[in-house]
Amino acid sequence: MIKLLVTGGAGFIGSNFIYYLLENKPEYDIVCLDKLTYAGNLKTLDEALKSDRFRFVRGDIADREFVDALFKEEKFDKVVNFAAESHVDRSIESPEVFLRTNVMGTASLLDASRKYGVERYHQVSTDEVYGDLPLEAKDLFFTEETPIHTSSPYSASKASADLLTLAYFRTYGMNVTVSRCSNNYGPYHFPEKLIPLMISRALNDESLPVYGNGLNVRDWLYVEDHCKAIEMILDKGRAGEVYNIGGHNERTNIEVVRTILRQLGKPESLITYVKDRAGHDLRYAIDPAKISRELGWTPETDFDSGIKKTVEWYLNNRKWWEDIISGEYADYYEKMYSNK
Ligand code: NAD
Ligand code: TYD
Repeated sequence: MIKLLVTGGAGFIGSNFIYYLLENKPEYDIVCLDKLTYAGNLKTLDEALKSDRFRFVRGDIADREFVDALFKEEKFDKVVNFAAESHVDRSIESPEVFLRTNVMGTASLLDASRKYGVERYHQVSTDEVYGDLPLEAKDLFFTEETPIHTSSPYSASKASADLLTLAYFRTYGMNVTVSRCSNNYGPYHFPEKLIPLMISRALNDESLPVYGNGLNVRDWLYVEDHCKAIEMILDKGRAGEVYNIGGHNERTNIEVVRTILRQLGKPESLITYVKDRAGHDLRYAIDPAKISRELGWTPETDFDSGIKKTVEWYLNNRKWWEDIISGEYADYYEKMYSNK
């Protein structure tokens, strides 16, 4: 068995990754470390908690003593770091917590991985470290050689963490990998991000705030395709390498919102154009040639089928997102664990 630490597993992508491994990769024994910030929801892990291959630990990746003790006790073979502050708009309001978790937290995990001889450390990063591409130049894509050129405190903190991770390869010879993925969507996506926000607000007949003119472009990847890519990198990726992950599904924000409205049978009159985000990146677009060539990864879900599945999931799991909007989910950990 491979003893794996998954940090940030009570969030969107980390939880999908845990379910992907529990369902498809019996060789993994998983410990999830998550602080349960506003973005972490233990309810999301209800099914995983029934598995004897899964254990949940609440804690902060930036708490060095705590992290050291956990590594000493668990003797992890591999580590995947999803834990992060992940919302650009929040980073514009309060950058500091992004530095603490995304930079100092990564440093603390790297140091513990080095001290306790972890075989492979994987850093989950984002295409946002490359900055943005012009809207007109449709043949330009981010490759692994594109220079780091960040726009927001969020992307600057993620880029710092990437550089630190790669420095541990060069300086200490640690076996690390980094992946940079485009925008994800799918089940358990926190309803502050574009797609789940628009679905949940449209279902409640609330206005849909589109920033600026709605023509910014994002490259959307169904979350399960991202999870498969990370598992392949963990298994076969080359030490010290960066892998871009994306499936060529570029859409303007307004196209995404209109698609959701059509699927829900809601009127376009809900769309409200609001003040643009400060420093708003124009276009993200990934060239995934390296991961396809080296690891044989290809995405399986295109945007049209992925968005259908996602809207259906939000229709069938109303309680999950309504509890988030009402704040109910925040008490769940106390209810579950106060007597344990
Ligand atoms: P998320 O915000 O949904 O989840 C983050 C999780 O990390 C939450 O469960 C939260 O409780 C936990 N966390 C936050 N601070 C912590 C700390 N100090 N210690 C321990 N746990 C902490 O984020 P997500 O969308 O699932 O993103 C996961 C990772 O993937 C992030 O590193 C993000 O930068 C990266 N990423 C996200 C996307 C995307 O489209 N969502 C795309 C590319 C890369
Ligand atoms: P978001 O989901 O926050 O992801 P990111 O900023 O990491 O790409 O936003 C996706 C796009 O949607 C981005 O161009 C900003 C835009 N957006 C809106 O127009 N309205 C909203 O309410 C939100 C949250 C985002």
